[in-house]
Amino acid sequence: MANVNLAVIYYSSTGTNYELAKWAEEAGKEAGADVKLLKVPELAPQEAIDSNPAWKEHAEATKDVPEATSDDIEWADAIIFSTPTRFGNVPSQMKQFLDMQGGLWANGKTINKVVSAMSSAQNPHGGQEKTIQAIYTSMMHWGAIIAAPGYSDPVIFGAGGNPYGTSVTASENGMVEDVEGAVKHQAKRTIEVATKIKNG
Ligand SMILES: Cc1cc2nc3c(=O)[nH]c(=O)nc-3n(C[C@H](O)[C@H](O)[C@H](O)COP(=O)(O)O)c2cc1C
Repeated sequence: MANVNLAVIYYSSTGTNYELAKWAEEAGKEAGADVKLLKVPELAPQEAIDSNPAWKEHAEATKDVPEATSDDIEWADAIIFSTPTRFGNVPSQMKQFLDMQGGLWANGKTINKVVSAMSSAQNPHGGQEKTIQAIYTSMMHWGAIIAAPGYSDPVIFGAGGNPYGTSVTASENGMVEDVEGAVKHQAKRTIEVATKIKNG
């Protein structure tokens, strides 16, 4: 059976979604996938980044993480997105990246990618589910196959019980819920579904 190519694509200002993405990367490798960890390009002006010490520090710490491109989407059999909530929606950085895939979409190259998504917000009910669903709406337009975790493993209940995708509360002191197991389960399930799609 051919290995699944997994792209873990994230946006993060202050590190939460980078951490979620790294857990997904780790689980993907453990599951035998070929994995790329990729960030979407930053759009915010440098003054905005510099005005927030946590943002500035995170941007510098992750400057060597490669940026996602259309080639990566074409390469991927499976994609896991991780993105913060911005006013109950995806950040412009992630939206811009999705919008830049119009050429691939027009050539049928987004069809049958197996996808799932994760999110964070400052509040426990700050819009994580809406953000994940916003990603999934675009994925329906791509003809992608959404592998939401549902309640496919007890670890999901311990992480807050979000069946759409792993989500977390991002406080000033870090993540409130322990979601590492849920992220890893979600990554493995995404690969499991993608393996079936890829190998027929
Ligand atoms: C412009 C803006 C809008 C935000 N909107 C929300 C929101 O609607 N609900 C919420 O709970 N948190 C909101 N937040 C907080 C972010 O979701 C939080 O900082 C993020 O999840 C942390 O992820 P990161 O560390 O990966 O950047 C907002 C933050 C910014 C800067």
